[in-house]
Amino acid sequence: MSKKGNFYITTAISYTNAAPHIGHAYEAIAADTKARFKRLDGFNVRFMTGTDDHGQKVMKSAEALGKTPQEFVDELLPEFKDNMTDALDISYDRFIRTTDKDHHEASQAIWKKMEENGDIYLDSYAGWYSTRDEAFYTEKEIETKPDGTKVSKETQTEVEWMEEESYFFKLSEYTDKLLKYYEEHPEFIQPDYRRNEIVSFVSQGLRDLSISRTSFDWGIPVPGNEKHVMYVWVDALTNYLTGLGYPNMDDDKMKDFWPCNTHLIGKDILRFHAVYWPAFLMSAGIELPKEIFAHGFLLHDGEKMSKSVGNVIAPSDLIGRYGVEASRYVLLREGTFGQDGDLTYPGMTTRINAELANNLGNLAQRTLSMINKNCDGKMPEPQAFTDADKALLKAAQEDMLPAVREHFEHMRFSRAMEEIMKVARDANSYIDEQAPWGLKKTDPKRMGTVLYVLAEVIRCLFIIMQPFTPKACNKLLDQLHVSPNARDFEFISAEHVVKAGWNIPKPEGVYPRIEVTEEAA
Ligand code: MSP
Repeated sequence: MSKKGNFYITTAISYTNAAPHIGHAYEAIAADTKARFKRLDGFNVRFMTGTDDHGQKVMKSAEALGKTPQEFVDELLPEFKDNMTDALDISYDRFIRTTDKDHHEASQAIWKKMEENGDIYLDSYAGWYSTRDEAFYTEKEIETKPDGTKVSKETQTEVEWMEEESYFFKLSEYTDKLLKYYEEHPEFIQPDYRRNEIVSFVSQGLRDLSISRTSFDWGIPVPGNEKHVMYVWVDALTNYLTGLGYPNMDDDKMKDFWPCNTHLIGKDILRFHAVYWPAFLMSAGIELPKEIFAHGFLLHDGEKMSKSVGNVIAPSDLIGRYGVEASRYVLLREGTFGQDGDLTYPGMTTRINAELANNLGNLAQRTLSMINKNCDGKMPEPQAFTDADKALLKAAQEDMLPAVREHFEHMRFSRAMEEIMKVARDANSYIDEQAPWGLKKTDPKRMGTVLYVLAEVIRCLFIIMQPFTPKACNKLLDQLHVSPNARDFEFISAEHVVKAGWNIPKPEGVYPRIEVTEEAA
């Protein structure tokens, strides 16, 4: 059971209209890294991810292939679940699909709550709709291209005219309530600079929102009027509650994990999460999530990934090239989380080699090899520590975790990694200064102390690296003889140091070097 409290984190659920790319993987890895960090830091964590199977976009993609939407999403599921989420070691507690039965119940239940509260009425919608964005746009929000096509100004996706009977949600009545909420909860929309966008959008006044469709049926039926299916975003957002057992408010998951701590999403869908979702929840009388964190987009060679440009990187491309551990690391390392990040293959290769293979990997490999060879395969007994020993031990045992934790609180993954790399660099400088290889003949006891200090620093480093590269860390901690029960962050402390006499076998590398010849090929 948790000592520090409960923590619920979610990713956006991906549209199953086409195979995923590393933009989807990026979000899953970020949420997973945070979830793992919190678990290791003593929290009781629930983590949910999944797929958004409904909507016009999915339906049109299915039709284009002559398939039913259900067949189509079932066929695409392994691309998201097996080849991306599971392949990347994403430690979700539930992988939800909006076609799951309990999700139908939850969506209909929240609809009824909003209806009971007098926020839903029947009328007809006439306006623009972008299927790509699954979003409605006003006349002011669209523009006409030279070839006559109409597109959303903001997203440049094509819009079409739509006119049909529709249920509406009285979003206009939430303008002031939302503004007040943002004001009173400045931490609700993160990073801070994203809040201004939303505040200025809402300040212009909100219009009622069309929340049902009649021209197709791939969605969740509106309770009491089966001619309508819910607007895909009503059902999609509700997934965050379905996963906790909603509408059963007495479900233990609901009691433990709602309100959600973090909905992690991309910047393109902030409006849905920071405006529509809180309004729906207010209407249904449900507490609001604590934080909506919008991350930036991953670009490839400075460009948006798109099929037509041919620069899309699939999760399997990255895993094939770098392996799972390095792929997880490098996506979160390049750029500042929150802002757009630019990926290039040469840049990623250099980063992986410099930081994982050289800085951390070599440090562990060199140290464990020396212990194995020069200390009879046993952790040496340390003598009195010098100032240099003490300074390095303090950096690893005392200073690193609070600094990394602070960065994690604000999703600054790259800065957190930088703190860890700094300690590893200091340890490498320490090896060079102490030159333990030269001490074997002159002062073997001192050699033992130096190797002991290094082993202890490596223990702390690989415990704290677990959220980023879980398998590699476990493999290294096994080789270092650290008990599987002693790998939580509470063990990053002088009380749990490596012990003299532990068996240290001939080490095997955990962060392989990426051959640059392969890269060029
Ligand atoms: N189905 C909606 C979300 C519903 S959440 C209740 C959706 N799906 S999506 O498949 O288009 O996007 C899923 C997530 O991936 C979103 O958070 C989106 O911002 C993110 N990304 C899509 N492309 C991306 C990049 N190139 N880079 C980083 N993240 C990107 O929106």
